[in-house]
Amino acid sequence: MPAADKTTTPSSFPIALLVISDRAYTQARQDLCQAAIENFLQMKGRSLHSTDIVPDEIPQIQQALRNLADSGTPMLILTAGGTGVSPRDRTPEATRPLLDMEIPGLPEAMRAASMKVTPYASLSRGYAGFIGAALVVNLPGSPKAAVENLEAVFDALEHAMIKAQGDMSDCVPKAAKKTGAS
Ligand code: MTE
Repeated sequence: MPAADKTTTPSSFPIALLVISDRAYTQARQDLCQAAIENFLQMKGRSLHSTDIVPDEIPQIQQALRNLADSGTPMLILTAGGTGVSPRDRTPEATRPLLDMEIPGLPEAMRAASMKVTPYASLSRGYAGFIGAALVVNLPGSPKAAVENLEAVFDALEHAMIKAQGDMSDCVPKAAKKTGAS
């Protein structure tokens, strides 16, 4: 991982989106994830640095992840799709072997938040963690699900990017958002 950089701020790292979908890749279906995620990021004052679409094929998913991570630039790589249990869903199998440091708490938090939306959230098998300086997060593929999952961890992702670059300052945790639950 790169040495500490005092100039690092939450908004200083690029965000890449990798849509993983056979149908979006062949243009049999329009990809709506990019627009949904761009819209979410815009509300956070952020934008997408790059977007790519690959089919549900492990070699192509891994090549795309490596191409992004190999730049060595600290970045957030969001993947969307292929996390479920359909025969072609292979995003978790492609992602996990590449991770240098897995962060189980991120998918745990995404699934916990998503279970308040739908019991089907338990079917998303995504992983998250660092490949070098790049933080990869597997999101489900429907635009609504992708944004709901991203929203659940976005603050933690920004914090992770700063800590991973060697920030030694004491953490001042953000309070969790209040829910209807007591
Ligand atoms: N998570 C949230 N927050 N909202 C959703 O609508 N859909 C679920 C789940 N996670 C959903 C969700 C469904 S229906 C599936 S099948 C899995 O994500 C996997 O989705 P994927 O195969 O598109 O990655």
